[in-house]
Amino acid sequence: MNQLVVRSSTRLRGRVRVPGDKSISHRALLLGALAEGASQIGGFLPSGDCLATLDCLRALGVEIETHDETTLTIRGRGLYGLRQPATPLNCVRSGTTMRLLAGILVGQSFASTLTGAPQLLRRPMRRIVEPLRRMGAEIEDTDGCAPLTICGRALCGYDHTLAVASAQVKSALLLAGLYADGPTVVHEPGPARDHTERMLAAMGADIEISGLTITLSPCLPFSLSPLSLSIPGDISSAAFPLVAAALVPGSKVTVEGVGVNPTRTGVLNVLRAMGADVALDNEREQGGEPMADVTVRSSELVGVEVGGDTVVRAIDELPVLAVAATQARGTTRVRDAAELRVKETDRVAAIVAGLRAMGAHIDPLPDGFIIEGPTPLCGAAVDSHGDHRLAMALAVAGLIAEGETVIENAECIPDSFPGFVELMRGLEKAL
Ligand code: S3P
Repeated sequence: MNQLVVRSSTRLRGRVRVPGDKSISHRALLLGALAEGASQIGGFLPSGDCLATLDCLRALGVEIETHDETTLTIRGRGLYGLRQPATPLNCVRSGTTMRLLAGILVGQSFASTLTGAPQLLRRPMRRIVEPLRRMGAEIEDTDGCAPLTICGRALCGYDHTLAVASAQVKSALLLAGLYADGPTVVHEPGPARDHTERMLAAMGADIEISGLTITLSPCLPFSLSPLSLSIPGDISSAAFPLVAAALVPGSKVTVEGVGVNPTRTGVLNVLRAMGADVALDNEREQGGEPMADVTVRSSELVGVEVGGDTVVRAIDELPVLAVAATQARGTTRVRDAAELRVKETDRVAAIVAGLRAMGAHIDPLPDGFIIEGPTPLCGAAVDSHGDHRLAMALAVAGLIAEGETVIENAECIPDSFPGFVELMRGLEKAL
């Protein structure tokens, strides 16, 4: 599937479920591998990125049984039971795999190398390498990027103040903290997703959270208890059918069982601020994570200002929110989102290029973008640049564009959302 062809939609209706949360799936694998005993995981996301983590862990000697695509048993080897891999660990296109695994590997008693696809080898790794070195880690980078060569060794605790609100950096440091001889403290500049902290606490780690400061105190000898976890649906995937429902007239879509951890719900806050009709029902908790059924009905939208903490809580949804902004009356300005430029691709440049080709009035900013709406979109040939979220955001744009939208390099969609095309087609058929 190199090309995805999308035509305008008349109406989207239905109740659906999206695949499991990507961030939680990575963490379940990684922490399950370090637990003392077998972890049972349901709702696992069998996406390209998570399977990269799974393959790396198998190469590190972890036994993982797949009962079906989404149900796993991970036979944890304890904090010190991983085995030296025979070859470099291939993280493919997954930044989360590389950054979180680096945090674990620096504390082992063997050397290893982390590598990946060319797209991943261009992404910044200094953000983890430098703070990990302050804990005593021995890592060699390649001009600030991967491949990373790691020589595992004893680590010390450190009081870190992060320059960017990044859950990947925070998590790498906390995972390294499991191997440190004293407390690891992380002060974050904004509320990056907190799944690692929640999972570590559930597994018995001594972790304290006070505002934006997290303290992990390893009390040796220490072990993590295994997980029994059912992973909620990924709000970052749910965002695509939900934003599409807000935009396609006459639509009403419910996504059931979506994770609504407050560090992830910025997309719902922005949609509401734009005047979208968003409802949460059946709110409950599952495996230490809040979950709900989320319904969006189509409505008139207005432009909004997006910045600060909201950007942190909605970082992966900003491309599809840009599509919504093209249909909103007035100006939408997204600021404080320079991180978008170092995701799977430069998401500012890529969304500006894609939406401009479709007729939108969108301009880049150094740390975001500005959009004037509403503008009717027209089908065009656009490029995902190998970025799954870009491909799906442009597919949503295609649903409201006149004519045919052809998305090049759409084979990356299953990196986070296997079954996306089928799910969207199902919503069109349920008329
Ligand atoms: C993720 C953190 C975010 C996010 C990525 C997944 C995670 O990246 O964009 O898709 O699972 O920790 P940053 O930590 O770089 O902001």
